[in-house]
Amino acid sequence: MTELKRVGVLTSGGDAPGMNAAIRATVRACIYYGLVPVVIQEGYKGLIENHMAVADARSVANIINQGGTFLKSARCQEFRSKEGRLKAYENARAAELDGLVVIGGDGSFTGAMLLEEEHGLPCIGVPGTIDNDIYGTDFTIGYDTALNTVVEAIDKIRDTATSHNRLFFIEVMGRDAGFIALNTGIASGAEDILIPEQEKTVELFMESLQKSGRAGKTSSIIVVAEGDRSGGVFELSRAVEENFPEYEVKVTVLGHIQRGGKPTCFDRVLASRLGVAAVEALRNGDSDIMVGLHDLKVVKTPLEKAISKHNQIDSHLMKVARIVSV
Ligand code: F6P
Repeated sequence: MTELKRVGVLTSGGDAPGMNAAIRATVRACIYYGLVPVVIQEGYKGLIENHMAVADARSVANIINQGGTFLKSARCQEFRSKEGRLKAYENARAAELDGLVVIGGDGSFTGAMLLEEEHGLPCIGVPGTIDNDIYGTDFTIGYDTALNTVVEAIDKIRDTATSHNRLFFIEVMGRDAGFIALNTGIASGAEDILIPEQEKTVELFMESLQKSGRAGKTSSIIVVAEGDRSGGVFELSRAVEENFPEYEVKVTVLGHIQRGGKPTCFDRVLASRLGVAAVEALRNGDSDIMVGLHDLKVVKTPLEKAISKHNQIDSHLMKVARIVSV
C-alpha cells in the first residue's frame, strides 16, 4: 500500500443540498491530517478531462450554507466505458492521487468501484442524493433538505386546495424510491400517498378517495412518488375526473425545486461527519467502501453492497400514514 499523501474529491450524479458541506469537510480533514486535498471539477468528467486543482482550507470557506455543488456535477457517459476509466486513472496517477472521495449516489459508486477494481485507486463513497435510496446509511446528504422543501411547498398548496375545495396530485422526486413521498405525505397531512414500494391500483385508489369523501373531506392532497407504478399524476387525475366529475382536480409536479436551496442543519452536520469519516477511512487503509450513518453512528459498508441492496420502507411508517389520514 502506498503512503497516503494526496486525496481527490469530486461530486457526481444529481446534485444534493449539503454536497458543498461534504466537500468542505473532506478538504479540511485532509489539511487537518497533513494531506493534500485535490478538488476535481464536474465529477468523473473532470477526472477524464484533467480539471483538478489543489485546494486549501480557505478555498472552501463560506460554502457550508450553499445548495448545489461548487465543484459542479455531471452524469458522465465516457466514464461508463473501460477506456474512459483508464483515461481518468491516468490523470489521477499523474496528479499523484493516492485516494479518491466520491460524493454521489449509486451510479457514482458503481463508477468508483470499477475504478478501484480495474486500476487499484482506493475509493471511498459519501452518499449524496435527495432520494435516500442508498443501502448502508439511514440518511443520505440532501434528503432532509428536500423533505423540508417539499413540506413547505405542499403547505402552500394546501392553503389554496382548502380555499377552493380542490383535489391536488403532487408529484415528488425519489427516482424509484418512495422515501420523499412517504415522509412528506405524513408531514403535510396528505389524504393519500402513492409510492413504488407499495403497489396500489387505480381502483383501490378510487375506493380510498370515496372513503375520504364519506369522511367529510372537502379538499385532498395526494402525494405521488415519481416512481409510483399506478400511472403517474396525469393519468390518475384523468381517472378521477372521469369517475368523479364533482371533484376539481389539479396537478403539481414539484420537480427540481426539490434539489436546490440551503442545506438544513441536519444535512450540514451529516455532510461534515461523513466528509471527515471518508478521509479517516482512507488514512485507516480502507477502500471500496461507503461511509454512512446508522443509528446515529458512522458506519462503513462495502460499495458493492451499498449499490446492490436497497433501503426498505418502514412498514410501520406506512401504517402510521394510513392511521393519521382517516
Ligand atoms: O437522484 C436524484 C434525482 O433528483 C431523482 O430524484 C430524479 O429522478 C433525478 O435525479 C432527476 O435527474 P435529472 O436532474 O438528471 O433530471
